[in-house]
Amino acid sequence: MRKEIKIAAQCIREGKLVAFPTDTVYGLGANALNPIAVAKIFEAKERPSFDPLIIHIADIKEINQLIKEYDNRILQLAEAFWPGPLTLILPKSNIVPDIVTSGLDTVGIRIPNNDIALDLIRESQCPIAAPSANKFGRISPTKAEHVRKQLIDVDYILDGGPTTIGIESTIIKLTENGFIILRNGIITKEDIELVIPSDNDKLNNNIIAPGMIESHYSPTKEIIIDYDSNFVPVNIENVGLISYTGKLDHKYKHIIQVSQNKDPKEYAVNLFDAMHKFEDDNNIEIIIAEAIEEKGIGLAIMDRLRRAAFQWKQD
Ligand code: TXA
Ligand code: MG
Repeated sequence: MRKEIKIAAQCIREGKLVAFPTDTVYGLGANALNPIAVAKIFEAKERPSFDPLIIHIADIKEINQLIKEYDNRILQLAEAFWPGPLTLILPKSNIVPDIVTSGLDTVGIRIPNNDIALDLIRESQCPIAAPSANKFGRISPTKAEHVRKQLIDVDYILDGGPTTIGIESTIIKLTENGFIILRNGIITKEDIELVIPSDNDKLNNNIIAPGMIESHYSPTKEIIIDYDSNFVPVNIENVGLISYTGKLDHKYKHIIQVSQNKDPKEYAVNLFDAMHKFEDDNNIEIIIAEAIEEKGIGLAIMDRLRRAAFQWKQD
């Protein structure tokens, strides 16, 4: 892997695109301080320019050049959660190109918990801007083969095997009084509240991050969420079930079990891979995904499922 990382880092330094594993999903990376390189990310993904990117760094020291002013809460959060799946939205410094932040005066930053990603960032000697390495709106990649399937205009793909978390990082914004969650992930509101208070004043405002559009993470096939076990498919031959508890298994023939222990973390790890498998399976026309209780990590899973199913909604 050393050799591959060196080649990939060389690509980043030359302003090219590299797909690489993180702890959450595969990212499509470019030198965050090179606007021409960053523009290639938007082109390769067919991503609209209003959807800002997250910058990945390897060491907390690198954050200073990217942000406007230091906030003591950054260190508290970094000690608790970095390297790891938490992205902080912070006021940006002038060296961060506007194309990275879609013209916003804030920037998303995280340190991923994946040795290949960290070595790549260090070896590249620059912060790396990286969205998930999928076409805009489509299923996120948790394996190198998922990247190859969707993206052709990538200069180098680092294959680090399947990612360990499986869904994207939790995104929070720091406010005067605490934090608000912009995107749910494996790190829950309750986890973060052990470190800093949440901003209860803003809790009911329903703020979400730009680019979090209603239809996202979508397979090319119809996907339906089964909330109450009442769904009756016309032809089970064509249906693929993403099974969590096993309670729907008796109704179907094609089943991918995402959790052995009814553990929402396992659902997260296997969710996108299951969607990719059914998307690629010519026998499958409709995907049914078993709903999960909306608390803790279940919030993040239901968020992904709802966006995946949005364009197929029948009401
Ligand atoms: O786990 C992850 O976060 C993965 C890996 C590759 O790190 N990355 C990822 O990036 O999910 P992406 O581009 O698929 O989603 C980034 C989202 C944007 O769609 C937007 O919602 C939010 O992060 N975001 C980025 N910068 C922001 C900002 N300045 N203010 C608010 N939201 C921001
Ligand atoms: Mg994405």
